[in-house]
Amino acid sequence: MIFGLVLICILAGLAAVYLHDVRQTQHTILRNFPVLGHVRYFAETWGEYMRQYQYLPDWAERPFNRLERSWVYRSAKGVSNLVSFGSENVPSFVFRNAAFPVLDEEKRGYPGKLIGIATGPGACREPYVAKHFFNISGMSYGALSHAAVTSLSRGAKLAGIWMSTGEGGLSKFHLDGGADIVMQIGTAKYGLRTQDGALSEDRLREVAGYPQIKMFEVKLAQGAKPGKGGVLPGAKVSAEIAAIRGIPEGQDSISPNRHRDIGSIAELGGFIARVREITGKPVGVKFVVGDPGYVDEWFADCAAHPEHAPDYVQVDGGEGGTGAAPAPLADYVGLPVTQALPIVAAIRDEHGLHDRIRIIASAKLITPDKVAWALCMGADFVSSARGFMFAMGCIQAMKCGSGKCPTGVTAVDPKLIAGLDPADKAVRVANYARRLADEVEMIAHSCGLPDVTGFAPKHVTEIERGVGGFRAHSG
Ligand SMILES: Cc1cc2nc3c(=O)[nH]c(=O)nc-3n(C[C@H](O)[C@H](O)[C@H](O)COP(=O)(O)O)c2cc1C
Repeated sequence: MIFGLVLICILAGLAAVYLHDVRQTQHTILRNFPVLGHVRYFAETWGEYMRQYQYLPDWAERPFNRLERSWVYRSAKGVSNLVSFGSENVPSFVFRNAAFPVLDEEKRGYPGKLIGIATGPGACREPYVAKHFFNISGMSYGALSHAAVTSLSRGAKLAGIWMSTGEGGLSKFHLDGGADIVMQIGTAKYGLRTQDGALSEDRLREVAGYPQIKMFEVKLAQGAKPGKGGVLPGAKVSAEIAAIRGIPEGQDSISPNRHRDIGSIAELGGFIARVREITGKPVGVKFVVGDPGYVDEWFADCAAHPEHAPDYVQVDGGEGGTGAAPAPLADYVGLPVTQALPIVAAIRDEHGLHDRIRIIASAKLITPDKVAWALCMGADFVSSARGFMFAMGCIQAMKCGSGKCPTGVTAVDPKLIAGLDPADKAVRVANYARRLADEVEMIAHSCGLPDVTGFAPKHVTEIERGVGGFRAHSG
């Protein structure tokens, strides 16, 4: 009898928790996995008290460790990120603080930065003033769910940052929030193609007509899979995706491993000039550095033929993310951004293009320290994909390619997508972008700079570590 009563109480309690979980909108994991999902939040909350007994330290997880992810989660939720007792980090670089940091009243907000030029060879009709230095890197609708794209678009609008469409074309979800958009032109030219896969000038003109589209981005490569196109299985090519991408419904869509019409530096320059002429908007190029020699040749061509120069380049490191990529390319091909960015910045400056070609850096630059590092090393902007996925609740389940993402961010299953509430996640996206910018500015102030535009290589120094973290002296 007592046993029966206890059982009824437990079941009633579980039913109440279940109803609470499916009705709330803040935690996708609880909506998608009612009751069971509390195990994650229990482990997250109480885990920090168990650190001394556990075997996996906070900085051991990959690709992003718990310290990095927690920083993003807490920022996105608007929770304090202050640390107590001391730092757990063992940094490989630090910033050189000034003896006399700027006073609060001397601090300046980010002044914005122009991309594209209004006069002279290579000019465009509508240069773009970027209002923020940290923006959203390309992720296609298809790789991301409609709820995730909607959250990013609304969050980007709230924070005043831009988002790139990724190579999968422009959807109504990108336009939903009213944010500034970069339209990516991938190797299959999805959303901008003729039936046989060539660039459709009519479609390009039509897309450029949207006031929200501020720039175009020719994607040569992304860090996770340089030299490889994507495959979208026919089962995923719904009528909606087919219409957005400009491909037949229900058939496998294979994007070529490079643009068929761009096989040399001269052809790249010609393509950039053509897109800029048709659209009137700035044109950038996203690429991954392999041999720095071709960057040198390319920028020499830009200096000699200014009409060929891109308005920006996005330097994606080999450690970049993806919806799906073969392991050898993801693991072993392409320079990491830590090497690539200083090389590209130096070559740009050697060719006198410092004020002509803006540099965007990306690949695992998701926390203020890494973003400030990139700005010191010559980046004008930093873009992130996975930082914003974390802001939307991604738990690094590494299931993006399966369509079964438990947080709905990259899911295909409508039940999993339904757990992700764009109204809530848009605020988190904006919170993350704002907190990140605030803390990069805080580093600048500590270095004696009124705003982040003064960052230079001299503000960062590598740490040399010897025995026990101190340099060993031999004499
Ligand atoms: C799910 C997913 C989809 C992506 N789709 C694209 C894409 O369509 N086009 C592209 O240029 N890069 C794509 N990327 C790469 C990102 O734009 C970015 O360059 C890379 O992940 C490095 O940034 P991160 O380390 O902040 O994620 C994708 C990344 C992820 C995680």
